[in-house]
Amino acid sequence: MTDRNQSEIRSNAIITAIGSYVPERILTNADLEKLVDTSDEWIVQRTGIQERHIASDHQFTSHLCFAAVQDMMERYNKDVTDIDYIIVATSTPDAVFPSVASQVQSHFGIENCGSVDLQAACAGFTAAIQLANGLLVSGAYRKVLVIGAETLSKVTDYSDRTTCILFGDGAGAFLMEASGSGSGNVLHMYSKTDGARGHQLYRSSLASAIGDHVIQPNGLIVQNGREVYRWAVSHVAEGVKQLMTRSSLSAADIDWFIPHSANMRIIEALCERTGFSLDQTLSSIKLFGNTSAASIPLAIDGAVKAGTIKQDQLMLLYGFGGGLTQAGIIIRWSL
Ligand SMILES: CC(C)(COP(=O)(O)OP(=O)(O)OC[C@H]1O[C@@H](n2cnc3c(N)ncnc32)[C@H](O)[C@@H]1OP(=O)(O)O)[C@@H](O)C(=O)NCCC(=O)NCCS
Repeated sequence: MTDRNQSEIRSNAIITAIGSYVPERILTNADLEKLVDTSDEWIVQRTGIQERHIASDHQFTSHLCFAAVQDMMERYNKDVTDIDYIIVATSTPDAVFPSVASQVQSHFGIENCGSVDLQAACAGFTAAIQLANGLLVSGAYRKVLVIGAETLSKVTDYSDRTTCILFGDGAGAFLMEASGSGSGNVLHMYSKTDGARGHQLYRSSLASAIGDHVIQPNGLIVQNGREVYRWAVSHVAEGVKQLMTRSSLSAADIDWFIPHSANMRIIEALCERTGFSLDQTLSSIKLFGNTSAASIPLAIDGAVKAGTIKQDQLMLLYGFGGGLTQAGIIIRWSL
């Protein structure tokens, strides 16, 4: 029987540029103390978050994408007008349609290009890289733009102290190009979905139930924090281990672990259970909070700007969250 998750894959995808953006406005723990019954001490101890960046009233996910791509173009001197395909991973599109990806196409005047928004919550960015790799390997496209972007502040209930302390806004972008030589940066991948637990973390839209579970139809993020925490430290840790086992790699072989920045306690528990040290772990949790699909590229770009990541290093990126969904990849950094 074929193992559908077997991790030896073909890749000709090279990451040739990275960019990111967070809105100017900052929401600190002290600000949240004025909104709900909470404290800086509780938030830092339970989540590791000190502050988050929040979009202005007139700033939406597409605007964050434009800024992240602009940053990428300027830093790497890249032209985007010949991009073949745009994937935007987001749970907070400006509209259900038109897609955010189509707004990126329009903003940069990209003429011949496919575009799609991808919804896999906090696993969105890594899922998008998996799909971008497939598009490039197929030979159909040579240049794919992958963006993870969120304006979670617009769907956060600021009267619910168990969720409003967590979420922030931001965007990160990778440019992925087909290599001439045939060998790419994406070495291994793994995915898993547990839809039966979907009601534990959701943002409602049309229906008032998920499966047999009645949900709050208010369009805001709702979660059972304890259940999501339990799932993350057990099932997500197992998924990370599966990805390493299937790749015949251990934590000691991998230079950087970049789990989704859900919260620092989850990251610490994942490290403990998978053998990674906190020193080899990158996150964007402290200053940006949980930015869902943007958290992994924000963590990586922070380290790129600090000069922490070196050429040829191996990195394990692992997204997880609403769905409940997991998507992990191991890449070799060559930027
Ligand atoms: C949300 C989360 C931080 C709450 O931490 P916790 O230790 O599980 O806290 P609990 O829900 O057990 O609540 C403990 C107490 O703190 C209180 N509390 C909850 N939020 C609080 C806040 N912001 N400030 C102060 N107290 C708070 C609770 O009301 C509860 O009080 P009680 O004991 O009097 O009932 C934690 O469950 C978590 O991180 N879950 C995962 C969430 C997540 O990452 N989601 C996105 C995944 S992609």
